[in-house]
Amino acid sequence: MRHPLPKAELHLHIEGTLEPELAFALAERNRIDLPYAGPDELRAAYAFTDLQSFLDLYYQLTAVLLTEQDFTDLADGYLARAAEQGVRHAEIFFDPQAHTGRGVDIGTVIRGLARSLESSRERFGVSTRLILSFLRDLPAEDALKTLADAGPYLDSIAAVGLDSAEVGHPPAKFAEVYAAARAAGLRLVAHAGEEGPPEYITEALDVLGVERIDHGIRCMEDPALVERLVAEQVPLTVCPFSNVRLRCVDTLADHPLPAMLEAGLLVTVNSDDPSYFGGYVEDNVQGLRASLGLSDDQLALLARNSFLASFVDDARRAELLAELDAATGAVRTASAS
Ligand code: HPA
Ligand code: ZN
Repeated sequence: MRHPLPKAELHLHIEGTLEPELAFALAERNRIDLPYAGPDELRAAYAFTDLQSFLDLYYQLTAVLLTEQDFTDLADGYLARAAEQGVRHAEIFFDPQAHTGRGVDIGTVIRGLARSLESSRERFGVSTRLILSFLRDLPAEDALKTLADAGPYLDSIAAVGLDSAEVGHPPAKFAEVYAAARAAGLRLVAHAGEEGPPEYITEALDVLGVERIDHGIRCMEDPALVERLVAEQVPLTVCPFSNVRLRCVDTLADHPLPAMLEAGLLVTVNSDDPSYFGGYVEDNVQGLRASLGLSDDQLALLARNSFLASFVDDARRAELLAELDAATGAVRTASAS
């Protein structure tokens, strides 16, 4: 791998970092039978036709996550890989309802993840935030109950998000829980415009009041919406490998990211569910470079955008931007000589 630029990852589902080897190790530790002979056979099942076909497997494999230690090990595995890929700050989604629905207590999930995250800066050089994500295909009442159950742990949580099956579950369904999250002092993001129409992006901004849109690629179908997102500099957390694997985009060479940058959108590159989609964040960046010929300046802009769009405090943002400036200065010096 070329030396990766320092960057923030802002769209990452911790459950989507469950590598087949760890899934089998946890299955053995917890005496759970997986319906696959081993990691290779499981990997061979990663042939998705759309978002739902992925979600079916993603939820099935959460069965191996039972104890605090399981969640700690999962997060440690991600953070070690992320650090190798230049990630210096990560804002990490987790899906509590994927676990409470199987009888795992929300405290087990949050304590286990928080235990990994609280020493991540020292161990991996990666600062972190945790984003509690609601499953949009479940009733809004379940989301409200989930937020209430997370009450004792809100010190560990920076923001709420919205994920799972998008079409037929518009953002407005969750107006009440987003208002409650805002009142509790949480930041707000939502998946919109991945498989769902551009109108869902507008609704997430206007009805939920989100600060960032996860995916958002379908904004490109609506020039007036693009104009608004540019004017308001709403960050979009784009996930190229995910878009190809879930067939939202045909191939990387067809990805709208260059057009999005050209339009002036505040785009970031992220890995979404890296274990399932063929790579971590720098793999996505290098995939784009190879398929679309992104320039060094475009790669630097993407890294810069990731820090601008993150929920770090001003001091940490200044530190991260300075680190990026030093790294891009080094790239320029190396290519000039
Ligand atoms: N979209 C919606 N829900 C998800 C995703 C995604 O890409 N990954 C995990 N849950
Ligand atoms: Zn996602």
